[in-house]
Amino acid sequence: MTTDELRRLFLDYFRERGHTVVPSASLVPEGDPTLLFNVAGMVQFKQFYASKGEIPFTRAASVQKCLRATDLEEVGRTIKHHTFFEMLGNFSFGDYFKREAVEWAWDFLTDVVGIPAERLVVSVHVDDEESAGIWRETAGIGEERSYRRGDEGNFWGPAGASGPCGPCSEVHDDFGPEAGCGRVECDPACDCGRYIEVWNLVFPQFYQDTDGERRPLERRGVDTGMGLERLAMICQGADTLFATDVFRPIVGFIKDEVDFGDRGEADEVGVRVIADHARALCFAISEGALPSNEGRGYVIRRILRRAVVRALNLGVDKPFLYKVAGRVIDVMRDAYPELDEKREQIAIVIKSDEERFQGTLERGMNILSEALDEIVRGGGGEVPGETVFKLYDTYGFPVEITRELASSAGVSIRAWGSNGSR
Ligand code: GLY
Repeated sequence: MTTDELRRLFLDYFRERGHTVVPSASLVPEGDPTLLFNVAGMVQFKQFYASKGEIPFTRAASVQKCLRATDLEEVGRTIKHHTFFEMLGNFSFGDYFKREAVEWAWDFLTDVVGIPAERLVVSVHVDDEESAGIWRETAGIGEERSYRRGDEGNFWGPAGASGPCGPCSEVHDDFGPEAGCGRVECDPACDCGRYIEVWNLVFPQFYQDTDGERRPLERRGVDTGMGLERLAMICQGADTLFATDVFRPIVGFIKDEVDFGDRGEADEVGVRVIADHARALCFAISEGALPSNEGRGYVIRRILRRAVVRALNLGVDKPFLYKVAGRVIDVMRDAYPELDEKREQIAIVIKSDEERFQGTLERGMNILSEALDEIVRGGGGEVPGETVFKLYDTYGFPVEITRELASSAGVSIRAWGSNGSR
């Protein structure tokens, strides 16, 4: 099944069950200054859950454009992390609750898209006997495939500084013991790669305000989120997100352009980072989020610069990312025509920031290489805080880039000051 088919199947499935299909909200949230980017399908419905009055519908489904920059350093290294992604979601605002959410999720995954039931395990909030019972009755999932966690793993929200939140139940695909750490106690909370979260079913029951107080929600309901690319990966039998139909043409383009040949894993990671980051840049820039030195723009600049550093590591010292962006638009334009409309603007923005950064990048790289050589020759140590700061302040190296480059040489870095992790 292609990603386009999965997107359509999902919306059809929930339309047939009385849901209003709603277009994705903007990637740059409107009217929510506490969120830099949209991180979930429910963001556009926050006020629906909290409404005492009329709302236009009580069931909705969407494919939401999301950007999460919290796991930037994982992108490319793992099979499942990315920054920009499409989130499939079905929502109930004071309408159906746990039973329908679980029954439909199970039916969609096993019957509609045909994932073998025995591959799926679930996690359930430790206090949520009701959901555990529904999984048992609906899917025959007993204790051996149902993992219980507290708020640290099975409570979701709010998105931003305030909003609906509640316990959640996740469906995970189990790649089998040989795919992971091999520990007997390995479970979906383990990061080893054995389990991949497919779908999160949240049951919003509270409204959390900015000082953390929770009150019962006016319209308790359902808020689900399933990463479309992850679903495609599973349905297509791909071994990473980057081997799915939406990423393959982008990855192929990058490899052709850099004459990839039979380079090793470190360079594969570089290609994946560029592919992922080019997608994020296209979508963000198409909505007017431009690279700058603060807030939202700084996130965009970091993403862009990470990709430029990776390109240089692959031997590209000319603007290149803007060409990858063109390929991204070719792949995504049927589902997102707005990208095609902004094609030229996206290329100009990316190319000019690439050019600006490339001017200082090589000088910064030389400074870092010299520091790393010296540390390695001296038998170990860390890159001093002053060097990390100079690279950031004078050469525009986001700290995590310095950390990643240093760590490829087996060296750690010393952060500077109280905000050294920036
Ligand atoms: N709102 C559900 C999720 O993002 O997982």
